[in-house]
Amino acid sequence: MGPLSRLARSVALTAGRPSGQQHAAGRTLRRRPEGRPTILLALILLLFAGVASATERPGVHAIASAHPLATAAGHEVLERGGNAFDAAIAVTAALGVVEPYGSGIGGGGFFLLHRAKDGFQTMLDGRETAPGAAHRDMYLDAQGDVIPNLSVDGPLSAGIPGTPAALVHLAERYGALPLADSLAPAVRLARDGFPVDAVYRRMANFRLPALNAHPEAARVLLYNGRVPAEGTIIRQPDLADTLERLGREGFEGFYGGELAERLVQGVREAGGIWTLEDLANYRVVEREPVRGEYRGYRITAASPPSSGGVALISILNQLSHYDLTALDRVTRTHLMVEAMRRAYRDRAEYLGDPDFVDMPLARLLSPDYAAGLRATIHPERATPSELLPVVLEPAPESEQTSHFSVLDAEGNRVAATITINYPFGSGFMPPGTGVLLNDEMDDFSAKPGVPNVYGLVGAEANAIAPNKRMLSSMTPAFVENDARLAILGTPGGSRIITMVLLGAMEFMEGGEAQAIVSLPRFHHQYLPDEIQFEVDAFDAATLQGLQSRGHSLAPQARRFGNMQAIVWDRRSGDVSAASDPRGIGEARKREINGQD
Ligand code: GLY
Repeated sequence: MGPLSRLARSVALTAGRPSGQQHAAGRTLRRRPEGRPTILLALILLLFAGVASATERPGVHAIASAHPLATAAGHEVLERGGNAFDAAIAVTAALGVVEPYGSGIGGGGFFLLHRAKDGFQTMLDGRETAPGAAHRDMYLDAQGDVIPNLSVDGPLSAGIPGTPAALVHLAERYGALPLADSLAPAVRLARDGFPVDAVYRRMANFRLPALNAHPEAARVLLYNGRVPAEGTIIRQPDLADTLERLGREGFEGFYGGELAERLVQGVREAGGIWTLEDLANYRVVEREPVRGEYRGYRITAASPPSSGGVALISILNQLSHYDLTALDRVTRTHLMVEAMRRAYRDRAEYLGDPDFVDMPLARLLSPDYAAGLRATIHPERATPSELLPVVLEPAPESEQTSHFSVLDAEGNRVAATITINYPFGSGFMPPGTGVLLNDEMDDFSAKPGVPNVYGLVGAEANAIAPNKRMLSSMTPAFVENDARLAILGTPGGSRIITMVLLGAMEFMEGGEAQAIVSLPRFHHQYLPDEIQFEVDAFDAATLQGLQSRGHSLAPQARRFGNMQAIVWDRRSGDVSAASDPRGIGEARKREINGQD
C-alpha cells in the first residue's frame, strides 16, 4: 500500500470517531475541528488514494507466452533495462522463430498497450493488408465458385506483413531500448537454433503438403521433406539476418531495399501479386481499443479490424442483465450460447476494416442494443441460426496464432495476439529471406455466405479490396476494476472470442490466472449451429439439459486454445501468471528486489 493510501485509510478509520481520538490521523488533521471538514478531507484523500493505488507499481515483471524460449527472451530484455514494450518486441520476435507454425514476422497482429506513467492505452494495429492488385473475386473460378485452398496455400494467400512495422513502432514510440537490443534474443535463437517439440511436429504434419510444395520452406522447416524428429535443431540463418537487418535499419530494413526486393521477387516468381509499393506503403495504425463494462469491471479489447472486442463486449452486454452465478449450469450455458450466437451473427454482417467500411460500432457496443438482442433470447429454447438465410458448410478447425501477456514492474502492460493464420501460414518462404509468409487473405470473405477455413461466414463488409485489412477474431484484452486486473488472450481462430469471454468471466468471478487458462471451454459462432465443447466442459446432466432446450452438441476431439494470462491484485500486491496447460508455454515472474 502506498503512503497516500495508508494515510487515507487511516483517516477513513478515524473520521467517524469523537474528536479527541483523531490524533492518530496526523498533524494536519489534529488542527481540524471534528465533523464535516474532516470527513470531506478524508473523502478527498480517499480519492487521491484511489488514483495512487491505480498507478502503484506491481514491483514484479511477469510474462506468459506460448513458448518457454519466448518467455525467456522477454525476461532477458527486461533484465537489461527494457520495459514491457521492449519485452513485447522480444517475445514477438522469439515466438516467430520457435513457433513458426503460430506467428512470425511474415504475419500480423494486434498489440494492446497500457502505459503506466499516464494510463494511456492504445491498440497497435499491425494487421496484414491485401496487396494492391488484390480484388474481390481473386479466389473464385469462372463459375464464381471458391477455388479450394487458393486463399490458404502459397504466395497468393499472403497479405502484406504488419508485424515487422509493429515492432519498429513499439521500439520507436514506447520502448526504452534500441530495437536491435530487443531483437537480439530472437536473432540468437534463429542463428543457434531451437529443438523441435511435439507441437511443432503435430503442426508440421498437418501442413506437410503445403510446406513440401515450397522448396525453401521445406528446406528450412522440414527434414528431407519429412517432419523433423523431436529434438532436431532448426536453424534459420536467413531469418537471423533479416531480424538483424530490421534491428539495424528499422522499417526500411524490411519494407525497403534488398530484403523487400527478395520478398517481392520470391512471391512473384511463385505466382503471387506483391509489389515493392505494397511493402513501402504498409503502415501500422494506432487505434482506440473498444471498451465496455460488465458488473463493475472495465473491458478493454481489440477494435476493428478485429471483431474480437466488439463481439466480446456485445456478449457481455447481453449477459449483464442476468446474475449468471446464481443460475443453474444449463440455464447459464444456454444464455451464454444464445448471446454468442447473436454477437457472431452481427460479426458476420457488419464488421470489417474501419478504414474501408462504415460500421455501426456505437450501436453494436451499446447496452441498449444488447438489451434488444437479449429480448429475443428464449429462456428455455435455443434460437435456430437458420432462421437467418445463410448457407452453411462444414469447415475444418485448426489451432494457429499465438498470444502473450506482459506486465512490467512499473505497471506497463501488453496483451498481444499475433498470427500467420493457418499453421505455418501459407507454407511459402521467399528464398533467401527466412520469412515464412502468412495466409491471412483467407480471413477475408472470398464470397459472401461461404465460410472460411474456420467456418466463419463473412459478408460484404469483409470483402477483399486492395490495401484493405482482413477481419480478425484476435482478442487481446484487459479486464479490470480498481482492485484487480487481468491481461489475457489466446489463439484459436473463430473460437478466440468465446475463449476470452470464458476467461474474462472466470476472472470477474474471482479466478486467478491458472483457473482462467485451465477452465474447460465451449463455443458457439452462429454458424455452424452447434455448441462446440471440450469433452470435460459439461457433465451428462448439463448435456442433456442443453439438448432438451434444442441445442446441437458437437464435442471436439481435441482441446482448443492456448491462453496466456496475468492477474494483478492491486490490493494484496499479488501477481499471478499462467500459461494454458493445453500448450507448451511458460509463465514466469520475477520480483524486482528492493523496489517494492
Ligand atoms: N487469423 C486469425 C485471426 O485473425 O483471427
